[in-house]
Amino acid sequence: MTGIGWPDDEPQTPSPETPEPQGPLGWPPDPSPIEPPHEPPAQLPPVPVVDSPPEATVPDYRPIDLAPAASVVTAEPASAEPVPAEPGSAGPVLPAEPVEPPVAPVVEARVPEPVERIRAVLRDEPGASLPRLEGDDTPIGVAAAAAVRVLNPGGRDDFPRPARRRILTIANQKGGVGKTTSTVNLAAALALHGAQVLVIDLDPQGNASTGMGVDHHAGVPSIYDVLLDDVPIADVVQRAEGVPRLRCVPATIDLAGAEIELVSIVARESRLQRAIAAYCDGPGSDVDYVLVDCPPSLGLLTLNAMVATEEVLIPIQCEYYALEGLGQLLKTIELVRANLNPKLSVSTILLTMYDARTKLADQVANEVRSHFGDTVLATTIPRSVRVSEAPGYGQSVVTYDPGSRGSIAYLEAAREIAVRGAERTTP
Ligand SMILES: Nc1ncnc2c1ncn2[C@@H]1O[C@H](COP(=O)(O)OP(=O)(O)OP(=O)(O)O)[C@@H](O)[C@H]1O
Ligand SMILES: [Mg+2]
Repeated sequence: MTGIGWPDDEPQTPSPETPEPQGPLGWPPDPSPIEPPHEPPAQLPPVPVVDSPPEATVPDYRPIDLAPAASVVTAEPASAEPVPAEPGSAGPVLPAEPVEPPVAPVVEARVPEPVERIRAVLRDEPGASLPRLEGDDTPIGVAAAAAVRVLNPGGRDDFPRPARRRILTIANQKGGVGKTTSTVNLAAALALHGAQVLVIDLDPQGNASTGMGVDHHAGVPSIYDVLLDDVPIADVVQRAEGVPRLRCVPATIDLAGAEIELVSIVARESRLQRAIAAYCDGPGSDVDYVLVDCPPSLGLLTLNAMVATEEVLIPIQCEYYALEGLGQLLKTIELVRANLNPKLSVSTILLTMYDARTKLADQVANEVRSHFGDTVLATTIPRSVRVSEAPGYGQSVVTYDPGSRGSIAYLEAAREIAVRGAERTTP
């Protein structure tokens, strides 16, 4: 018995004078001598070769210089002589005719991979320098290129402008489905790509005003004054922070009482329609898109928005409950069309907060697509932390983090909306 109580089952093993040579992990040595051709197969990436076989006889920079498939097989000095096939092996490792040209000269001329250069810099090696961004093939390059596409400097990627003004109501009486987020980001994307955009915040929470960096504390002239006191939109409209061609009519907490106050007012359902028409016939005649962000209810405010527009955009969150209540929304739209606004229709459905990790998101998306067909935009907005962070900085995600997934998704959704609208309005 040894000290730890294991049986001495191999009496001949210990040899006190000459310690048994050991492999790198302390295992007993392989009984057979080193067999170079039996290195692991060729799909190893280049980098592991640097520190793999302890007995490597080649300089450490050499193996990583080779193309991945050839690197391991030709790790020894290049030689044109055929390597005799080892008995019992699958045959000669190299064909008689060498496939590759000799390796040695290539080694000298090779430019290191970006990842090697970064590692070299991290190791403080003399002469090491970081790789430069060359096109879209590095993660940073991809993000930078995406940001340029989103921000569209110089207007090189302007969307087609609608032949006539489009007024969209963003509505869903279910709360928290992405109405405001979609309004703010689609508006910003459209404005960055050449359109003149007016956002009307019709929600007493004032989230769209916050998301656009527009002042909306109590007492600021707002949509409340427009709806209840006939103040022109031109007197309350504000320029949005950091996005050219984007303006906003803010909502303040005063609007919370408007649902009730409107009840007794003449033409209570068409107050917003008249205000928008007056603005667009005058100082806002250059506006291409009006986007109205509705509160999570089907009250008089939402009704005003539906009377004022021809298009409803419904954001649907990719969650099970999101589908409940959709029937009621569609019924309301149908009622408005039948009684107040015959031009009204659901033009666009946008799937929001899509989480690719869940099966449910897919099921909801498929369900919605099979039911609504082409009305659903092909672009789906992913659930993304950057999207939810942006309002905290008074910005859309499109300006807050232009290269992010959420920003690119909103850009593509806005492009689809613009292209579809142009197709529809162009004879
Ligand atoms: N794609 C997304 N990824 C992550 N978070 C999101 C995304 N879209 C929206 N959110 C977050 O979800 C919450 C609800 O979004 P939003 O305010 O746009 O919904 P809403 O329908 O306007 O809500 P309400 O009905 O209260 O007006 C917000 O906190 C927002 O930041
Ligand atoms: Mg909202």
